[in-house]
Amino acid sequence: MNRVVMVLLSLGLWASAQPSLADEAVISSLMERYRAAGADQPDAARGEALWKRKHGERSCETCHGSDLRRPGKHARTGKRIEAMAPSVNPQRLSKARKIEKWFLRNCKWTLGRECSAREKADILAWLKQQ
Ligand code: HEC
Repeated sequence: MNRVVMVLLSLGLWASAQPSLADEAVISSLMERYRAAGADQPDAARGEALWKRKHGERSCETCHGSDLRRPGKHARTGKRIEAMAPSVNPQRLSKARKIEKWFLRNCKWTLGRECSAREKADILAWLKQQ
């Protein structure tokens, strides 16, 4: 096998063994931002509880479903929402702007207010493990 192919192959293997490198950078920069805004000890268990908690009829699961490894369905439009778990959907938690945009929109829809930095840090801590 020629060397270029071997290098490319091993790079490919390395890349696939490290699927969350870029995501980790995005997540830690967001976490740093939240920490600066007062979220000192992100807590995945608290994030999970908040994700599942009902506010009236609404919760994060209303659209994302109760199994993050499976697609959800938008409560209003009925549109499919791809799985939230980064382990099955590597697109997830890979773009800070997207994460912030949807935190804003979805917290408002679900809780009737924006999420605090601490709440976002907790949810992110939990989501990234999924
Ligand atoms: C009314 C439906 C709906 C509800 C309820 C909802 N979401 Fe979402 N969410 C969406 C849609 C639509 C998208 C964007 C489409 C996509 O990325 O597949 C999205 C995307 C996201 C993303 C972006 C993830 C990424 O990196 O791609 C985050 C973070 C998120 N939601 C968090 C939440 C949280 C936290 C709650 C509960 C407070 C919540 N969502 C409740 C509809 C909803």
